[in-house]
Amino acid sequence: MLTNQNTLIDAFGRQVDYIRLSITDRCDFRCTYCMSEDVEFLPRDEVLTLEECYRITKAFVSLGVSKVRITGGEPLVRKNAIWLFKKIGELPGVRELVTTTNGSQLEHHAQAIKDSGVQRINISLDSLNPERFRRITRVGNLDKVLRGISAAKKVGFKNIKLNTVLMRGINDDETLDLVQFAIREEIDISFIEEMPIGLVDHARENSFVSNTDTLTTLQKNYTLISSALNTGGPARYWTVANTNTKIGFISPHSHNFCEACNRVRITCKGELYLCLGQEDKIELMPLLREHPNDDQPLINAIVASMKMKPLGHDFDVKRAAPAVVRFMSHTGG
Ligand code: 5AD
Ligand code: SF4
Repeated sequence: MLTNQNTLIDAFGRQVDYIRLSITDRCDFRCTYCMSEDVEFLPRDEVLTLEECYRITKAFVSLGVSKVRITGGEPLVRKNAIWLFKKIGELPGVRELVTTTNGSQLEHHAQAIKDSGVQRINISLDSLNPERFRRITRVGNLDKVLRGISAAKKVGFKNIKLNTVLMRGINDDETLDLVQFAIREEIDISFIEEMPIGLVDHARENSFVSNTDTLTTLQKNYTLISSALNTGGPARYWTVANTNTKIGFISPHSHNFCEACNRVRITCKGELYLCLGQEDKIELMPLLREHPNDDQPLINAIVASMKMKPLGHDFDVKRAAPAVVRFMSHTGG
Protein backbone atom coordinates (compact mmCIF):
# COMPACT_ATOMS: atom_id res chain seq x y z
CA MET A 1 0.00 0.00 0.00
CA LEU A 2 1.55 3.26 -1.07
CA THR A 3 -0.03 6.22 0.62
CA ASN A 4 2.62 8.82 -0.01
CA GLN A 5 4.53 8.65 -3.22
CA ASN A 6 8.01 7.23 -2.68
CA THR A 7 7.20 5.84 0.75
CA LEU A 8 6.65 2.24 1.80
CA ILE A 9 3.82 1.96 4.29
CA ASP A 10 2.46 -1.44 5.29
CA ALA A 11 -1.11 -2.45 6.10
CA PHE A 12 -0.59 -1.50 9.76
CA GLY A 13 0.69 1.99 8.98
CA ARG A 14 4.36 1.17 9.65
CA GLN A 15 6.88 2.81 7.35
CA VAL A 16 9.63 0.56 6.03
CA ASP A 17 12.81 2.65 5.79
CA TYR A 18 15.43 0.00 6.63
CA ILE A 19 16.60 -2.97 4.58
CA ARG A 20 18.94 -5.76 5.56
CA LEU A 21 20.57 -7.28 2.53
CA SER A 22 22.46 -10.57 2.62
CA ILE A 23 25.09 -10.56 -0.12
CA THR A 24 26.30 -14.14 0.32
CA ASP A 25 25.32 -17.35 2.12
CA ARG A 26 29.00 -18.27 2.40
CA CYS A 27 31.02 -17.87 5.52
CA ASP A 28 34.51 -18.74 6.69
CA PHE A 29 33.09 -19.79 10.10
CA ARG A 30 30.65 -22.60 10.85
CA CYS A 31 29.04 -21.37 14.08
CA THR A 32 27.21 -24.22 15.74
CA TYR A 33 24.00 -22.22 16.20
CA CYS A 34 24.00 -21.02 12.62
CA MET A 35 24.99 -23.80 10.25
CA SER A 36 25.95 -27.45 10.16
CA GLU A 37 29.57 -28.43 9.71
CA ASP A 38 29.02 -29.86 6.23
CA VAL A 39 26.76 -27.05 5.02
CA GLU A 40 26.40 -26.84 1.26
CA PHE A 41 26.46 -23.36 -0.13
CA LEU A 42 24.28 -22.22 -3.01
CA PRO A 43 25.52 -22.51 -6.58
CA ARG A 44 26.76 -19.13 -7.76
CA ASP A 45 24.04 -18.52 -10.35
CA GLU A 46 21.39 -18.82 -7.64
CA VAL A 47 22.95 -15.95 -5.74
CA LEU A 48 22.37 -12.30 -6.62
CA THR A 49 25.24 -10.67 -8.46
CA LEU A 50 26.58 -7.55 -6.79
CA GLU A 51 25.01 -5.49 -9.59
CA GLU A 52 21.65 -7.11 -8.73
CA CYS A 53 22.20 -6.32 -5.05
CA TYR A 54 22.77 -2.73 -6.08
CA ARG A 55 19.63 -2.59 -8.26
CA ILE A 56 17.50 -3.90 -5.40
CA THR A 57 18.99 -1.42 -2.98
CA LYS A 58 18.51 1.45 -5.41
CA ALA A 59 14.85 0.46 -5.88
CA PHE A 60 14.25 0.45 -2.12
CA VAL A 61 16.06 3.76 -1.70
CA SER A 62 13.86 5.30 -4.41
CA LEU A 63 10.94 4.23 -2.19
CA GLY A 64 12.20 6.06 0.87
CA VAL A 65 14.55 3.52 2.46
CA SER A 66 17.39 5.43 4.15
CA LYS A 67 19.15 2.73 6.16
CA VAL A 68 20.90 -0.29 4.65
CA ARG A 69 22.63 -3.10 6.50
CA ILE A 70 24.84 -5.44 4.49
CA THR A 71 24.98 -8.92 6.01
CA GLY A 72 25.67 -12.52 4.97
CA GLY A 73 26.81 -15.17 5.63
CA GLU A 74 29.99 -13.24 6.04
CA PRO A 75 29.78 -10.24 3.70
CA LEU A 76 33.55 -9.83 3.51
CA VAL A 77 34.07 -13.26 1.92
CA ARG A 78 32.18 -11.98 -1.13
CA LYS A 79 34.64 -10.82 -3.74
CA ASN A 80 34.30 -7.10 -4.47
CA ALA A 81 31.97 -6.52 -1.52
CA ILE A 82 33.70 -3.17 -1.04
CA TRP A 83 32.56 -2.11 -4.52
CA LEU A 84 28.96 -2.63 -3.44
CA PHE A 85 29.46 -0.78 -0.14
CA LYS A 86 30.83 2.15 -2.09
CA LYS A 87 28.03 2.19 -4.67
CA ILE A 88 25.37 2.05 -1.96
CA GLY A 89 27.18 4.65 0.13
CA GLU A 90 27.04 7.02 -2.84
CA LEU A 91 23.27 6.72 -3.31
CA PRO A 92 21.62 9.99 -2.35
CA GLY A 93 19.00 9.08 0.21
CA VAL A 94 21.14 6.55 2.09
CA ARG A 95 21.69 8.14 5.46
CA GLU A 96 22.97 5.06 7.25
CA LEU A 97 25.08 2.32 5.73
CA VAL A 98 26.10 -0.35 8.20
CA THR A 99 27.34 -3.91 8.12
CA THR A 100 27.52 -7.04 10.26
CA THR A 101 30.67 -9.17 10.13
CA ASN A 102 32.28 -12.03 11.99
CA GLY A 103 35.47 -9.97 12.11
CA SER A 104 37.71 -12.62 10.59
CA GLN A 105 38.85 -10.39 7.70
CA LEU A 106 38.46 -6.98 9.30
CA GLU A 107 42.12 -6.70 10.03
CA HIS A 108 42.73 -6.40 6.29
CA HIS A 109 39.58 -4.61 5.16
CA ALA A 110 38.77 -2.13 7.94
CA GLN A 111 40.27 0.87 6.12
CA ALA A 112 38.61 0.04 2.79
CA ILE A 113 35.25 -0.42 4.51
CA LYS A 114 35.62 2.91 6.28
CA ASP A 115 36.61 4.62 3.01
CA SER A 116 33.61 3.11 1.21
CA GLY A 117 31.22 5.07 3.41
CA VAL A 118 30.14 2.40 5.91
CA GLN A 119 29.36 4.25 9.15
CA ARG A 120 29.03 1.49 11.70
CA ILE A 121 29.93 -2.15 12.05
CA ASN A 122 28.64 -4.95 14.22
CA ILE A 123 31.08 -7.73 15.01
CA SER A 124 30.02 -11.14 16.28
CA LEU A 125 31.91 -12.34 19.35
CA ASP A 126 30.66 -15.19 21.52
CA SER A 127 33.74 -16.01 23.59
CA LEU A 128 37.08 -14.58 24.73
CA ASN A 129 38.53 -18.00 25.25
CA PRO A 130 40.44 -19.16 22.13
CA GLU A 131 39.55 -22.86 22.44
CA ARG A 132 35.95 -22.16 23.18
CA PHE A 133 35.79 -19.61 20.38
CA ARG A 134 37.08 -22.32 18.06
CA ARG A 135 34.50 -24.79 19.37
CA ILE A 136 31.57 -22.41 18.82
CA THR A 137 32.70 -21.23 15.36
CA ARG A 138 34.21 -24.68 14.58
CA VAL A 139 37.06 -23.06 12.61
CA GLY A 140 37.42 -19.45 13.80
CA ASN A 141 40.56 -17.87 15.19
CA LEU A 142 39.85 -15.56 18.15
CA ASP A 143 43.10 -13.63 17.79
CA LYS A 144 42.30 -12.65 14.24
CA VAL A 145 38.90 -11.32 15.30
CA LEU A 146 40.43 -9.37 18.19
CA ARG A 147 42.93 -7.87 15.74
CA GLY A 148 40.00 -7.04 13.47
CA ILE A 149 38.26 -5.19 16.31
CA SER A 150 41.43 -3.19 16.97
CA ALA A 151 41.77 -2.38 13.27
CA ALA A 152 38.18 -1.13 13.12
CA LYS A 153 38.84 1.16 16.09
CA LYS A 154 42.09 2.34 14.62
CA VAL A 155 40.57 3.43 11.30
CA GLY A 156 38.06 5.49 13.24
CA PHE A 157 34.84 3.50 13.42
CA LYS A 158 32.62 4.82 16.20
CA ASN A 159 29.86 2.90 17.98
CA ILE A 160 31.31 -0.50 17.15
CA LYS A 161 28.98 -3.12 18.53
CA LEU A 162 29.66 -6.71 19.48
CA ASN A 163 26.90 -9.26 18.90
CA THR A 164 26.89 -12.12 21.37
CA VAL A 165 24.70 -15.20 21.39
CA LEU A 166 24.73 -16.68 24.90
CA MET A 167 24.11 -20.40 25.25
CA ARG A 168 23.62 -22.15 28.57
CA GLY A 169 26.54 -24.35 29.53
CA ILE A 170 28.46 -23.22 26.44
CA ASN A 171 29.43 -19.57 26.99
CA ASP A 172 26.94 -18.07 29.46
CA ASP A 173 29.66 -18.00 32.14
CA GLU A 174 31.39 -15.31 30.05
CA THR A 175 28.59 -12.75 30.27
CA LEU A 176 30.50 -10.46 32.63
CA ASP A 177 33.87 -10.98 30.90
CA LEU A 178 32.39 -10.00 27.56
CA VAL A 179 30.83 -6.86 29.04
CA GLN A 180 34.11 -6.02 30.77
CA PHE A 181 35.89 -6.40 27.44
CA ALA A 182 33.40 -4.04 25.77
CA ILE A 183 33.86 -1.47 28.55
CA ARG A 184 37.63 -1.65 28.25
CA GLU A 185 37.48 -1.28 24.47
CA GLU A 186 34.86 1.49 24.76
CA ILE A 187 32.49 -0.30 22.41
CA ASP A 188 28.90 -1.56 22.75
CA ILE A 189 27.63 -5.09 23.11
CA SER A 190 24.29 -6.71 22.32
CA PHE A 191 23.09 -10.01 23.61
CA ILE A 192 21.03 -11.86 21.03
CA GLU A 193 18.75 -14.65 22.17
CA GLU A 194 19.34 -17.78 20.15
CA MET A 195 16.70 -18.03 17.48
CA PRO A 196 15.11 -21.24 16.27
CA ILE A 197 16.21 -20.63 12.72
CA GLY A 198 17.77 -23.43 10.72
CA LEU A 199 18.61 -26.93 11.94
CA VAL A 200 21.47 -27.27 14.42
CA ASP A 201 22.96 -30.09 16.41
CA HIS A 202 22.29 -28.93 19.97
CA ALA A 203 18.98 -28.92 21.83
CA ARG A 204 17.87 -25.33 21.84
CA GLU A 205 15.47 -25.66 24.72
CA ASN A 206 18.50 -26.59 26.90
CA SER A 207 20.87 -23.93 25.61
CA PHE A 208 18.45 -21.03 25.45
CA VAL A 209 19.38 -18.14 27.75
CA SER A 210 16.72 -15.49 28.14
CA ASN A 211 17.76 -11.86 28.07
CA THR A 212 15.74 -11.31 31.24
CA ASP A 213 18.21 -13.58 33.06
CA THR A 214 21.20 -11.89 31.42
CA LEU A 215 19.93 -8.47 32.47
CA THR A 216 19.47 -9.69 36.06
CA THR A 217 23.06 -11.00 36.11
CA LEU A 218 24.40 -7.72 34.77
CA GLN A 219 22.38 -5.56 37.14
CA LYS A 220 23.97 -7.36 40.08
CA ASN A 221 27.36 -6.16 38.85
CA TYR A 222 26.77 -2.84 37.09
CA THR A 223 24.55 0.18 37.37
CA LEU A 224 22.57 0.14 34.14
CA ILE A 225 20.72 3.23 33.00
CA SER A 226 17.81 2.54 30.69
CA SER A 227 18.39 4.26 27.39
CA ALA A 228 15.71 5.90 25.29
CA LEU A 229 17.48 4.70 22.17
CA ASN A 230 14.92 3.14 19.89
CA THR A 231 16.12 1.41 16.77
CA GLY A 232 12.69 0.36 15.57
CA GLY A 233 13.93 -3.17 16.09
CA PRO A 234 13.60 -5.85 18.76
CA ALA A 235 16.39 -4.32 20.85
CA ARG A 236 16.43 -2.50 24.17
CA TYR A 237 19.49 -0.56 25.30
CA TRP A 238 21.09 0.30 28.64
CA THR A 239 24.13 2.43 29.36
CA VAL A 240 26.66 1.13 31.86
CA ALA A 241 27.07 4.00 34.37
CA ASN A 242 30.39 5.86 34.11
CA THR A 243 31.44 4.09 30.91
CA ASN A 244 31.16 4.64 27.16
CA THR A 245 29.45 1.29 26.73
CA LYS A 246 25.84 0.53 25.91
CA ILE A 247 24.39 -2.93 26.34
CA GLY A 248 21.63 -4.05 24.01
CA PHE A 249 19.25 -6.93 24.45
CA ILE A 250 17.86 -8.36 21.26
CA SER A 251 14.95 -10.58 22.13
CA PRO A 252 13.46 -11.98 18.97
CA HIS A 253 11.00 -13.98 21.06
CA SER A 254 9.39 -10.93 22.52
CA HIS A 255 6.70 -9.22 20.50
CA ASN A 256 7.37 -5.90 22.20
CA PHE A 257 8.68 -4.10 19.18
CA CYS A 258 6.81 -5.62 16.26
CA GLU A 259 4.43 -2.68 16.24
CA ALA A 260 7.35 -0.35 15.51
CA CYS A 261 9.03 -2.65 12.96
CA ASN A 262 10.57 -0.60 10.15
CA ARG A 263 12.54 -3.23 8.26
CA VAL A 264 12.47 -5.99 5.67
CA ARG A 265 15.12 -8.51 4.66
CA ILE A 266 16.47 -9.59 1.32
CA THR A 267 18.30 -12.91 1.08
CA CYS A 268 21.30 -13.54 -1.13
CA LYS A 269 18.88 -15.39 -3.48
CA GLY A 270 16.82 -12.26 -3.87
CA GLU A 271 13.95 -13.36 -1.66
CA LEU A 272 12.20 -10.48 0.03
CA TYR A 273 11.09 -11.47 3.53
CA LEU A 274 8.71 -9.09 5.21
CA CYS A 275 9.35 -10.52 8.70
CA LEU A 276 12.21 -12.61 10.11
CA GLY A 277 9.84 -15.09 11.70
CA GLN A 278 7.42 -15.65 8.84
CA GLU A 279 7.65 -17.66 5.65
CA ASP A 280 5.91 -15.13 3.39
CA LYS A 281 8.29 -13.96 0.73
CA ILE A 282 8.52 -12.50 -2.73
CA GLU A 283 11.10 -13.64 -5.28
CA LEU A 284 12.87 -10.61 -6.67
CA MET A 285 15.49 -12.43 -8.76
CA PRO A 286 13.16 -13.32 -11.69
CA LEU A 287 12.07 -9.69 -11.89
CA LEU A 288 15.70 -8.60 -12.14
CA ARG A 289 16.71 -11.23 -14.69
CA GLU A 290 13.60 -10.93 -16.89
CA HIS A 291 13.88 -7.14 -16.96
CA PRO A 292 17.59 -6.38 -17.05
CA ASN A 293 17.07 -2.76 -18.11
CA ASP A 294 13.83 -1.88 -16.37
CA ASP A 295 13.49 -1.49 -12.61
CA GLN A 296 9.77 -0.72 -12.69
CA PRO A 297 8.59 -4.36 -12.27
CA LEU A 298 10.92 -4.65 -9.29
CA ILE A 299 9.64 -1.41 -7.77
CA ASN A 300 6.01 -2.48 -8.33
CA ALA A 301 6.64 -5.80 -6.58
CA ILE A 302 8.25 -4.09 -3.60
CA VAL A 303 5.34 -1.68 -3.29
CA ALA A 304 2.84 -4.56 -3.56
CA SER A 305 4.73 -6.60 -0.94
CA MET A 306 3.87 -4.10 1.77
CA LYS A 307 0.40 -5.53 2.23
CA MET A 308 2.04 -8.91 3.04
CA LYS A 309 4.04 -7.61 6.01
CA PRO A 310 2.58 -9.40 9.05
CA LEU A 311 1.88 -7.72 12.36
CA GLY A 312 4.24 -10.02 14.30
CA HIS A 313 6.06 -13.32 14.34
CA ASP A 314 5.70 -16.66 16.00
CA PHE A 315 8.87 -18.12 17.51
CA ASP A 316 8.77 -20.82 20.15
CA VAL A 317 12.00 -22.44 21.39
CA LYS A 318 10.14 -25.38 22.87
CA ARG A 319 8.87 -26.50 19.51
CA ALA A 320 10.60 -29.67 18.28
CA ALA A 321 11.05 -28.33 14.78
CA PRO A 322 12.49 -24.93 14.07
CA ALA A 323 9.88 -22.26 13.46
CA VAL A 324 11.55 -21.46 10.22
CA VAL A 325 13.79 -23.90 8.38
CA ARG A 326 15.87 -21.18 6.90
CA PHE A 327 19.40 -20.31 7.81
CA MET A 328 20.59 -17.03 9.23
CA SER A 329 23.41 -17.21 6.72
CA HIS A 330 20.87 -16.95 3.87
CA THR A 331 18.63 -14.38 5.43
CA GLY A 332 21.18 -12.24 7.18
CA GLY A 333 21.32 -11.42 10.86
N1 5AD B 1 20.18 -17.19 16.75
C1 5AD B 1 20.65 -15.98 17.14
N2 5AD B 1 21.61 -15.32 16.51
C2 5AD B 1 22.12 -15.88 15.43
N3 5AD B 1 23.08 -15.45 14.60
C3 5AD B 1 23.26 -16.37 13.64
N4 5AD B 1 22.42 -17.41 13.83
C4 5AD B 1 21.70 -17.14 14.94
C5 5AD B 1 20.67 -17.80 15.66
N5 5AD B 1 20.20 -18.98 15.27
C6 5AD B 1 23.78 -14.18 14.86
C7 5AD B 1 25.25 -14.18 14.70
C8 5AD B 1 25.55 -12.76 14.38
C9 5AD B 1 24.25 -12.16 14.01
C10 5AD B 1 24.26 -11.48 12.72
O1 5AD B 1 23.32 -13.20 13.97
O2 5AD B 1 25.93 -14.52 15.86
O3 5AD B 1 26.10 -12.08 15.47
FE1 SF4 C 1 29.18 -17.27 9.77
FE2 SF4 C 1 27.79 -15.51 11.24
FE3 SF4 C 1 26.78 -17.93 10.70
FE4 SF4 C 1 28.84 -17.70 12.35
S1 SF4 C 1 26.79 -16.87 12.69
S2 SF4 C 1 28.63 -19.23 10.69
S3 SF4 C 1 29.96 -16.05 11.49
S4 SF4 C 1 27.19 -16.36 9.21
